[in-house]
Amino acid sequence: MIKGIKGVKDLLPTEAPRWGLIEAAARRWAGLYGYQEIRLPIFESTELFARSIGSTTDIVEKEMYTFPDRDGSSLTLRPEGTAGAVRSYVEHNLSASPLPQKLYYLGPMFRHERPQAGRLRQFHQFGVEFFGTAVPEADVDVIALLWRFLQDLKLPGLTLELNTLGDLADRPQYKAILRDFLVTRSARLCSNCLRRIESNPLRVLDCKVPECREASADAPRIVDHISDEARAHFAAVQSGLRALDIPFQLNPRLVRGLDYYTLTTFEVTCTHLGAQNAVGAGGRYDGLVEVLGGPKTPAIGFAVGIERIALLVPKEMTPAPDHRLYIAAFGAAATPIGLRLLHVLRAHGLHADMDYRATTLKAHLRQADRMTCAYTVILGDDEVAKGLVILRNMHSKEQEELPLATASESLLSRLPSRS
Ligand code: HAM
Repeated sequence: MIKGIKGVKDLLPTEAPRWGLIEAAARRWAGLYGYQEIRLPIFESTELFARSIGSTTDIVEKEMYTFPDRDGSSLTLRPEGTAGAVRSYVEHNLSASPLPQKLYYLGPMFRHERPQAGRLRQFHQFGVEFFGTAVPEADVDVIALLWRFLQDLKLPGLTLELNTLGDLADRPQYKAILRDFLVTRSARLCSNCLRRIESNPLRVLDCKVPECREASADAPRIVDHISDEARAHFAAVQSGLRALDIPFQLNPRLVRGLDYYTLTTFEVTCTHLGAQNAVGAGGRYDGLVEVLGGPKTPAIGFAVGIERIALLVPKEMTPAPDHRLYIAAFGAAATPIGLRLLHVLRAHGLHADMDYRATTLKAHLRQADRMTCAYTVILGDDEVAKGLVILRNMHSKEQEELPLATASESLLSRLPSRS
């Protein structure tokens, strides 16, 4: 037997309705907030991710599925959606539009991580990217969309954490200050963090190793080393969130694992998720469009992990299977008439089904129950001879007779169709 790949999951029919619910909510809320769908390629040139996410991040250093194309060029399965969205924005000159561009996407992403509950190698994101608006109202709008979408799905135990990374111009000075501090703690840092002091000191703040967290607990805070404009932006985002009654906590260590962020960063965590507790995250990335060859364009976005949300959506939110009518046609004369009836009812949008393997009434009724059908049409050769069908309420077991000639019309008038 050939098995699926570790950390790459099948979505079985038992789980699919829950995903359908999440994806429908994503599309509905993204649409309401003015986002348009963009479908982006699953693989891109490796250079795109290295340049945007950052060559010294965990994602680029350790987690990408990278492979040579036949011509020797290096390709990578997308580990996230922002880089591709920005590439597409630049390539198709979307900045020429007079409107701010608001794009959303749903789809698989790939990271070579150690699989565990809520952490996969192929996982799925719903993400949004809002290009062209620098003011803090845009940050509030994006965070409000994330919060509202998660509230709509009734996820329990959520916390919104907020931080600012300052402007790009603030970064070198803060990095230098942080580096000087970290050097004084180097004896207590893990080997990864030691390496990071030089290459990417901000990432040390995000290390999960308890000793490193302790050693850097009193590290200089970014917020104390940013420009007045950046501080005012952050204050405006906070007051905007308060005005919309969106609760948040400040987390000065929230630096994110991708290097493109500037100013506002945020993450929604859930107490019910264990170690992989981030449901979704995002932030501003005002320098990235330019880095990828476009005009200077402010931008902000977020992405959520569908697998993690699926673990949290309350059971009662999952739609029940919608099997309304079962056709129990059996016998040489009745079976073709039953098939025709099924054909007509479906054509009119009625959810109707039949198990072709069943040949007796008993077997049909058993299947109708298994399929949780609300009603069954019973049609044997006797009924055909009498010119009628029997409609059975599967719950009350009550039965009534309907004329065969007008069976489809009467069924359609009493059972609501879906279309
Ligand atoms: P990220 O924090 O890397 O951000 O990922 C966003 C979300 O994707 C996480 O909060 C988590 O729910 C989910 N996720 C990440 N890795 C895995 C995994 N291995 N298995 C399951 N779920 C996972 C980004 O990807 C940014 N592109 C977000 C963004 C958009 N920032 C601006 N715009």
